[in-house]
Amino acid sequence: MEDLKGLILSGGEGTRLRPITHTSAKQLVPVANKPVLFYGIEALVEAGVTDIGIIIAPATGDEIRTAVGDGSDFGATVTYIEQDKPAGLAHAVLTAEDFLDGSSFVMYLGDNLLKNGISSLVESFRENSPEAIILLTAVDDPSAYGVAELDGDRVVGLVEKPENPPSNMALVGVYLFSPAIMEASRALKPSGRGELEITEAIQSLIEDGREVQSEVVKGWWKDTGQLADMLEANRLVLQEIETRIDGELENSKVEGRVILEKGAVLRGSVVRGPAVIAAGTVVEDAYIGPYTSLGSNVVVRRSEIEHSILLSGATVEDLGTRMEASLLGRDVRVTRTDGPPRTFRLLVGDRSEIEIV
Ligand code: DAU
Repeated sequence: MEDLKGLILSGGEGTRLRPITHTSAKQLVPVANKPVLFYGIEALVEAGVTDIGIIIAPATGDEIRTAVGDGSDFGATVTYIEQDKPAGLAHAVLTAEDFLDGSSFVMYLGDNLLKNGISSLVESFRENSPEAIILLTAVDDPSAYGVAELDGDRVVGLVEKPENPPSNMALVGVYLFSPAIMEASRALKPSGRGELEITEAIQSLIEDGREVQSEVVKGWWKDTGQLADMLEANRLVLQEIETRIDGELENSKVEGRVILEKGAVLRGSVVRGPAVIAAGTVVEDAYIGPYTSLGSNVVVRRSEIEHSILLSGATVEDLGTRMEASLLGRDVRVTRTDGPPRTFRLLVGDRSEIEIV
């Protein structure tokens, strides 16, 4: 078989992660201080797929180009494909027609994270040459996903975000396709939510009696489109890090698995891992608890933070209470001043969420 190409979908609008994604691509929100998208690129390269097209949206495309470049840092060659509107996953496939040029390909949704990579899946596609391989996993809330209808192990149907799911087996955002998916996508009409659904294109392959194989994901999988999932992905990735202390410790203690990058400083603080702290970050008289990722040039003083992601340039000072399960965007400042009156003074962007508990 000729070699497989990769197609990563990194367009779309990211409405569920607003306000973080008002100004930046949801696929660049970091998990354990690395953009989600990078995990996908690495998974493709690891599986031997290095000719990669990345679908980008007009608003966030430049930021993705800047972050990924020509792909050489990853050992890949990247071609950017602009999709003028987020008209659906199958619309993205049609937009990539010139790039795909009749090849089979791996489609990888840029906000998905898979623990065990995709090498065995790609191998099985190369060996068996079906029209498609889809990945499935059991979820608690199937209505939020594409869902498979199964007859034993066999997929007999697929529906996108059904009100009454036929099973709890959701479609994971990694697909292997022969060029047959192109015709199937071309024949689609917009769905109820106005998109060309890849789920329907695969359904039509099944109806035409083409071979669609399915595999159940081994290890964890996360779609990081929402805050809770993003924090959970951060937790799962941090669980596997190895300690590396390249930064400075002054009068501080590090327990458990912690990465402290060169140029990061801890003063009079305790960090209980798993946690990662990027370069240029200062933690003073503070406690950083498990499952926390601090981006570069973050400042934490006289505060406690746990199970959270702070993007670069964020500042947290004098909180007085512990902050947890939070995601702070770039250059966000959260501070408290002493003494009465005990009031809140807020300067908060559109669609932010603040929960006082
Ligand atoms: O995460 C798995 C789920 O992904 C599947 O279970 C569903 O069947 C599948 O439709 C998809 O659902 P989502 O609603 O989560 O897709 P979302 O709109 O978040 O888009 C997924 C990725 O594709 C994301 O990185 C944005 C990108 N995208 C999306 C659309 C609609 C594009 O690049 N172009 C698009 O037109």
